[in-house]
Amino acid sequence: MAGTDESDTAKRTVLGWDSDMNSQNSTAGGRYKKNWTPSEHYKDTKIAEQYDKERFSSVSGKVFDRLEKAAIRRAFRDLPADSLILDAPSGTGRLAETLLEMGHRVVGLDISPAMLTVAQRKLARFGERYQTRVADVNDLALEPKQFDAALCARVLMHFPIEEQIAFLSAVCHATRRTVVFNQSLDTTYQRLRRQVKRMLGNQAPASFPITPAEARRLIQEAGLIEQARYHVLPLVSEATVFACRIGD
Ligand SMILES: C[S@@+](CC[C@H](N)C(=O)[O-])C[C@H]1O[C@@H](n2cnc3c(N)ncnc32)[C@H](O)[C@@H]1O
Repeated sequence: MAGTDESDTAKRTVLGWDSDMNSQNSTAGGRYKKNWTPSEHYKDTKIAEQYDKERFSSVSGKVFDRLEKAAIRRAFRDLPADSLILDAPSGTGRLAETLLEMGHRVVGLDISPAMLTVAQRKLARFGERYQTRVADVNDLALEPKQFDAALCARVLMHFPIEEQIAFLSAVCHATRRTVVFNQSLDTTYQRLRRQVKRMLGNQAPASFPITPAEARRLIQEAGLIEQARYHVLPLVSEATVFACRIGD
């Protein structure tokens, strides 16, 4: 069911905010359910069509969406207007819209044609400034640099750290300057908060959040230099936006 995605906002309690960034598809132990993979799940047309509504139409979903977009705007604020940005994965174009509104051109890349169909429909008003491409992000590792900047949002938390590094490295490989990504940051405070959630019977945050040390490793091994970090809702969510530049 669609509610097996990372953020079923309709059911979210305040303490459950970190489900915004963490897949509820995983077991408490942090492994995928056997029949679920992020590269296949979103190819289902019904899931793609419901994605925005299920996650961002409740009050808490709208608040989170707005704050996340504000963090994305801050992360890209120094980029010259009309830059060419890779949004990978673009999904339904939720964050591509923010980048387009900032005056940039965006290529929305995703492995799911169904998600990109929704994105194209939503962003039709931007005409040629929003292009889409169906592809596996990992294949960018074989391509030349072609983008001024890149956004990699709401996907890394689905993978173990080694796959996160490969995924983000592929994005960086195609990018000349700025790379912004988000992840769930697994700090001592957030671990405590998760324990409280578990005690209250909430589903444990799952998937693959990263510790501060893993964040440093991810950034370094992807060839990035961190420039700023934005916590979307510090007390109730692990969601963190990392603004980086390609290393020298
Ligand atoms: C939760 S959505 C996030 C979309 C968007 N960035 C957002 O923040 O709303 C995750 C997306 O990752 C895509 N995806 C998963 N694995 C992928 C891969 N290897 N290459 C390209 N897209 C992938 C899925 O198809 C899905 O659309």
